[in-house]
Amino acid sequence: MTADRRDRRPLSGLEAAVTVRVPAKINLSLSVGELDELESYHDLDTVFHAVDVYDEVTVRRASSWSVSTPGYDEIPAGPDNLALAAAQRLHQHLSNLGGDHDCGPVTIEIAKQIPVAGGMAGGSADAAATLVACNQLWDAGLDKQELSEVAAQIGSDVPFALLGGTAVGAGRGDELSPVLTRMALHWVLALAEVGLSTPVVFAELDRLRALGRPVRSAGVDRMVTALRSGDVNEVADALDNDLQAAAISLHPELRRTVRAGTAGGALGAIVSGSGPTVALLCADAAHAGHVAAHMAGTGTCRAVRIATGPVPGARVLNGAG
Ligand code: C5P
Repeated sequence: MTADRRDRRPLSGLEAAVTVRVPAKINLSLSVGELDELESYHDLDTVFHAVDVYDEVTVRRASSWSVSTPGYDEIPAGPDNLALAAAQRLHQHLSNLGGDHDCGPVTIEIAKQIPVAGGMAGGSADAAATLVACNQLWDAGLDKQELSEVAAQIGSDVPFALLGGTAVGAGRGDELSPVLTRMALHWVLALAEVGLSTPVVFAELDRLRALGRPVRSAGVDRMVTALRSGDVNEVADALDNDLQAAAISLHPELRRTVRAGTAGGALGAIVSGSGPTVALLCADAAHAGHVAAHMAGTGTCRAVRIATGPVPGARVLNGAG
């Protein structure tokens, strides 16, 4: 039996559980435009890239809604948790559709590997994984497009965590077009001591621009061309992130991390999304090993991880009755 057919097995009973694995992302290029008319979101032009750093999210039927992330007391366990919000949003969506879905409360358990508040969309990834898991647990049968529409209501990065791979994101970042590339990219991730809040970093960029700082990247076309060329040096040259200046302004130590990466031989260095994780692009797996060893000795980061992308988005690992 293939994994897919096993995954479609209907589930029932209090013990039923579904586990979904979901990747982190790096923005290879991130161009931040104007605030929208409600002044709540910026127009984005970005290239998302999913890497093999994964969270695993398990949902089980329960008598009341709950979420936990063992080992991470700082992650909210209430309605502020994006995974719980995702489960309840999908529940509401299915109720609105009518039908006889057995979509009662669930308990969600998150096994975390994606850095928390690290600019790698860990919270959004957990929300995406929860949507995929509940869709299966409840046998709701929503297709990818419908799940993506629910995902966009939860956060700008959630639809990409469903899709994975490498993709251009427009609008808030939720309007996705896959970039077809055979290139595997090898990364060293330099993890910071403290996290950064995404809205705070966007607000800092607005503040810098209001002061006249010309923080404006060239847009995503250069990166898409570089990815299609298959030349990792071109990709390194095209790495670009408008939020980097804002993240460094809030967390000046990041400048040292970026410099340590390039001094250690990385082909390119970029703050991932709103930071503070710094992503260092390497030529191949052996090169990544060398750069990781160098970074570990510099004292400019809390920890280093080696990662490779692109990888697929949220996928069911098992459905156990
Ligand atoms: O969509 P998400 O909930 O991840 O966004 C978190 C915050 O980041 C938003 O409330 C907003 O302040 C900021 N943001 C933005 N423009 C975007 C995406 C996020 O200003 N396109």
